[in-house]
Amino acid sequence: MDDREGVHDHGEGVTAGELLALATDIAREAGEMLLAKRPARPEVLTTKSSPTDVVTALDKAAEELIRARIAQARPGDAVLGEEGGDTPGEGGVRWVVDPIDGTVNFLYGLPDWAVSIGVEVDGEIVAGVVNNIPRGQLFSASKGEGAWLDGERLWCNTGVPLDRALVATGFGYGADRRRVQAEVLAQVMPRIRDIRRSGSCAVDLCSVAAGRVDAYFERGTNYWDHAAGGLIATEAGARIDGLYGRPVHPDLVMCAAPGLFEELHDLLAPLDPDHD
Ligand code: IPD
Ligand code: CA
Ligand code: CA
Repeated sequence: MDDREGVHDHGEGVTAGELLALATDIAREAGEMLLAKRPARPEVLTTKSSPTDVVTALDKAAEELIRARIAQARPGDAVLGEEGGDTPGEGGVRWVVDPIDGTVNFLYGLPDWAVSIGVEVDGEIVAGVVNNIPRGQLFSASKGEGAWLDGERLWCNTGVPLDRALVATGFGYGADRRRVQAEVLAQVMPRIRDIRRSGSCAVDLCSVAAGRVDAYFERGTNYWDHAAGGLIATEAGARIDGLYGRPVHPDLVMCAAPGLFEELHDLLAPLDPDHD
């Protein structure tokens, strides 16, 4: 532990602040590359879980750039990336990367896509950056040091009752999952203010942090979708968890200020939102 205020050595000889600074530099460079190289009509390179689960050449190029920069600065760190999978490392630091969260938006030229980079030390995310490039907004957080949007401290909305809550959500790529998600949504809609679907889990979590929505829930997200955004939301005062007090899990992620979180949980739990 370093005794300077706000500097915590996480046992790997590196502080969360140092990891955040590096993650920020890398997310900026990847964002600039994506903005410079994005053609007017990006082409689908391949598909994954379904014909609508797309990958472009730039998803892969961005992850390669991010991996190269991590390896240059911190050789030996582990990396989990959506496109490149899990690369084991030597110490306790692991980078969790979604090179483009919101690829369908990227494809269509909609503005909610982001480079998302979370950094784990000994299994816990201690730094996170979500660079929402088309909007020119970089969200960041390090553990215990708050959540920030380009130098402005973020706080989630508090004291919002469920029936006034603006709730973000998302949908999976598989038809069967979507059918269930639509059924759940039909039960949720009459009980809240309204729904928003941005197309990026990372941006949704930053929107909770910034008070642009009051809550977020989604079934079927992966760790790289919410690793960075989850820290940003919690550092802004929100709670992020799964059903019945379980930690965040691909089955279901819920995020909101305490109070609204529990109301949303109690609305969702009987609807079995975590099954297909
Ligand atoms: C997707 C986005 C979307 C969410 C999906 C994710 P991708 O990530 O975060 O908002 O609804 O569950 O898979 O495929 O654009 O990286
Ligand atoms: Ca994603
Ligand atoms: Ca992605």
